[in-house]
Amino acid sequence: MFAKRTQWNLTPNRLSEALAAHRAAGKPLIDLTVSNPTECGLVYDREAILGALRNPEALRYEPNAKGLEPARQAVVEYYAERGAKVGVEDILLTTSTSEAYSYVFRTLCDPGDEILIPSPSYPLFDFLADIQDVKLVRYPLLYDHGWLIDFHALEQAITPRTRGVIVVHPNNPTGHFVKPVEMGRLNAICSARGFAIIADEVFLDFAHDPETHPVSFAANPAALTFALSGLSKISGLPQMKAAWLVASGPQERKREALARLELIADTYLSMNAPVQLALPVFLQQRSAFQKQLLSRVRRNLAELDRLLAQQKPCSRLELEAGWYAVLRVPATRSDEELALDLLSAQGIYLHPGHFYDFQADGFLVVSLISPEPQFARGFADLLGSFN
Ligand SMILES: Cc1ncc(COP(=O)(O)O)c(C=O)c1O
Repeated sequence: MFAKRTQWNLTPNRLSEALAAHRAAGKPLIDLTVSNPTECGLVYDREAILGALRNPEALRYEPNAKGLEPARQAVVEYYAERGAKVGVEDILLTTSTSEAYSYVFRTLCDPGDEILIPSPSYPLFDFLADIQDVKLVRYPLLYDHGWLIDFHALEQAITPRTRGVIVVHPNNPTGHFVKPVEMGRLNAICSARGFAIIADEVFLDFAHDPETHPVSFAANPAALTFALSGLSKISGLPQMKAAWLVASGPQERKREALARLELIADTYLSMNAPVQLALPVFLQQRSAFQKQLLSRVRRNLAELDRLLAQQKPCSRLELEAGWYAVLRVPATRSDEELALDLLSAQGIYLHPGHFYDFQADGFLVVSLISPEPQFARGFADLLGSFN
């Protein structure tokens, strides 16, 4: 009765089962995977956010496939502040970056066509690709005092069915930016072969060093490019369901891509009016949100480093940005077994590296946005368990 594309193994994995049982038994839990910014004690401007949703203009229905112009104009200004000049006509609003991915996959790929994705990376890609009948092909990132794209492997992964390359800038969970020299190489590969670049920039504003000013892909002239971002991370408002894609690249390619995307968007018209009208105010919230979030990330990272300096078995990988850190721990068992043991013995919940496609055991991924006392206690207990 059902399509093959939905023939997923829907049984919960051992770790989620163990977590549900742990919670149901009411046992104490330190969750070091927290990624919901609305649930970690950050302060939001309630009046401004709720007030923005009361715009009387929302009583009118004014469909616009790309999204209401004042909302797109606010996105133009967001990029202008980052030094990227994008046109209001090059932006298309979506309810999430996931939806933006699906529009882009639909625009680029016939069933079975291939998109290159970084490994390790964000676990949602598999489902997004399955739903759109896209085949993902992984290209490795190499770690050597920081992360690099393995361009040799990336080129080896190209086939006649390749349509595009995804970069996550900065990547989740490795927390590294695509470097300008890597952008140049990607542009050369993609423009020569007619591939698109899909750049997920949801964490672009979260460089840990305030002196780092990463370049966005939003105004990339060399190859057809879709830069994706949204309010979930930028303003810490995932519940508002507002994101966008920005198309750039050679004029003719870009124009054609936008015309196709606009028709897809027009078929769904999935953005609602109140959120689009509120989007300029939601975007303004970003400075207060990012300030709080980054100071928490920096404090948690400093505490993590302080604790790591007191012991030998565990270390962390270098990172530049984002909400996560990768720990390297003794690979005495599979990282799933390790996460299960930490949960049952210590009540600490972390993600094993293989959730993010780490190829070897011995990696755990932790969120840096947990409230500081919880983070410090969880880490002290975690590191203690290796001594
Ligand atoms: C790299 C990356 N892209 C996209 C998203 C999802 O964003 P959205 O809520 O806009 O779909 C996430 C969420 O964790 C993410 O880590």
